[in-house]
Amino acid sequence: MGNIRDDFPFLRNHPELIYFDNAATSLKPQVVIDEVSNYYENIAANIHRGDYKLSHLASNKFDESRQTVADFINANPEEIVFTSGASESLNLVAIGYGQKHLKEGDVILLNETEHASNLLPWYALAKRNKLKLEFIKTNEQGDILLHDFEQAMHSKVKLVSIAHSSNVLAYIRDIKNMSAIAHSYGAIMVVDGAQTVGHIKIDVQDLAVDFFAFSGHKMFAPSGVGVLYGKKELLEETDPIFYGGGSNHDFGIDGLMTLKKSPLKFESGTPNIEGVLGLKKAIDYINSVGIDYIHRRNQELYNYAYTKLSTLKHLVIYNPNADLSIISFNVEGIFAQDVAQYLDSFNIAVRTGDHCAKAFDPSLKKTKTIRLSMHFYNNEKEIDILYEALKDITLEKCI
Ligand code: ALA
Repeated sequence: MGNIRDDFPFLRNHPELIYFDNAATSLKPQVVIDEVSNYYENIAANIHRGDYKLSHLASNKFDESRQTVADFINANPEEIVFTSGASESLNLVAIGYGQKHLKEGDVILLNETEHASNLLPWYALAKRNKLKLEFIKTNEQGDILLHDFEQAMHSKVKLVSIAHSSNVLAYIRDIKNMSAIAHSYGAIMVVDGAQTVGHIKIDVQDLAVDFFAFSGHKMFAPSGVGVLYGKKELLEETDPIFYGGGSNHDFGIDGLMTLKKSPLKFESGTPNIEGVLGLKKAIDYINSVGIDYIHRRNQELYNYAYTKLSTLKHLVIYNPNADLSIISFNVEGIFAQDVAQYLDSFNIAVRTGDHCAKAFDPSLKKTKTIRLSMHFYNNEKEIDILYEALKDITLEKCI
């Protein structure tokens, strides 16, 4: 393996920048950018519609991408629905499955640490279908213990939706055992995998989830493409949210239509073809580097960063022992956003705020934090620069 950083043109084009906002979106390797350009420069055709060679080529590449995604998470291609991202995927479950199957008085079980994308679709559904929302207890670290999960389950819970890992604190949840518990009560298990795909190996069979949502852009693929995995029988019971070309077998003027089977019934209109092809390349890239290497390297970076930053007594770190390479922290006496602007003056890019997890404020006691989110192309030298900048930070320097 050569120097991983050479795979990412952004790093070459911004030698001065330290990009620590990978949980918001990852950088894209050259192979993904080339694939997107190649589609526009050399293929261009729409899929599944044209009777000419380039359209067949585009269609074949699109269909191969579905197989690649399926293999990547140990699913079948007909269980892979292409969406615009994790948010659309979760909305599809809420609207297409939940609206049809959940009845007045049924309970949806959630957790306060969730991203807006995994709370608001359920809030809207609860309002529409007169459902009850309940929340699994979060411990002092902001994690969900299996014991607390079990305590929260009861026979009225019909659907559970939680993130594989919180985007703020990065603790990976014990989804496999949670799924088993949810299923023992007859509930559907929905998982938001936006933060874990591309960081750790995902096997939806092993996790035994019913639905699993993720985005391409956090795993080296283009923006605007994502995936909803759903068990075949559940996707068949799910209605599309969009109707139009490509998803139907037939319709006339009687107001009736026959839809194709899943996943095509969910994919009306011209899809994000270049995004899907880019997603395949991103997976090929991850496979060539090795997901175990990516995971190990991220753990090394987290351990290195945590060990250094935890020596700074003016820092409050909220997620010791995180499973992913995210450190959420504050500097005592200085607003998070002022810290981020100070770091920006060192060309260090971090995210601050509530990170779209606005319902979450347990042990944090503050709603705004600074989030350092690394990926395997970051390095110790960059962490050293961050450490030096934070070592010398004062309120005066921030204003
Ligand atoms: N969900 C993304 C984040 O955590 C945007 O920053």
